[in-house]
Amino acid sequence: MTTPPSARRVDCLEEILTTYHRYGHAHYGESVSELEHALQCATFALRAGEPAVLIAACLLHDYGHLRHGLGEDCADRGIDAGHESIGAAALAPHFQPALVAGVALHVEAKRYLCFAEPEHLARLSPASSQSLRLQGGPHDAAAARAFLAHPHSALALRVRRYDELGKVPGMTTPSLDAFRDVLLAALRPERDAAVAQS
Ligand SMILES: [Fe+2]
Repeated sequence: MTTPPSARRVDCLEEILTTYHRYGHAHYGESVSELEHALQCATFALRAGEPAVLIAACLLHDYGHLRHGLGEDCADRGIDAGHESIGAAALAPHFQPALVAGVALHVEAKRYLCFAEPEHLARLSPASSQSLRLQGGPHDAAAARAFLAHPHSALALRVRRYDELGKVPGMTTPSLDAFRDVLLAALRPERDAAVAQS
C-alpha cells in the first residue's frame, strides 16, 4: 500500500503549481509562454516514455525564470539571471537529486551540445542564442569533459533536448494539473526531505 503524501509535500506542490498559474504567462523572448514551454517539454518526455523524474525535470527546468524577479526582458538588458541555479535551489528540499541535477545542469547541457553538435547551435532560437552568450557560450573541450564527468550529465542532456523541442506555438498538451502525479512521484522520500530542510 502506498503512503499518501504529507500535507507539507502537498503544500510544496501547490506552491509550484500556483507559481506557474500566476507567472507562467511570461515569454522570455520565445514564441510560447513559460507555462506552454514547460507543458510541451514534459509532454514530449511523456510521449517518449521517459521516467517520472525526467518528465518532472522537463516540466520544472525553467522554474527559476518564474522566481528571479528580474523580468522577462532581463536577457535584453544583458543580465544572466542564473535561473537554473535559482530553480534548483528552490526545488532541492523537495525533489529527488536527479530532478534537481537536471534543472541545475540544463544550461551546461545546452553549452555542451552547442560545442559537440554544430547543428544544435545552428537550430537555437534567437532568444536561446542570446542567452547562450550570457551563459558563457559553447563549452570548450575541457568544459565538455568536466560536464560529461557529472553523474547526471546524461539526464541533463535529455532534459535539454526536450527543452529545445518545447517551443511550438499552439501545441495541444495535457494541463498542468495532469502532471500532479508525475511531480508526486519525483518528490524525495519524506525523511530525506526533512534532513535537507534542517
Ligand atoms: Fe527551457
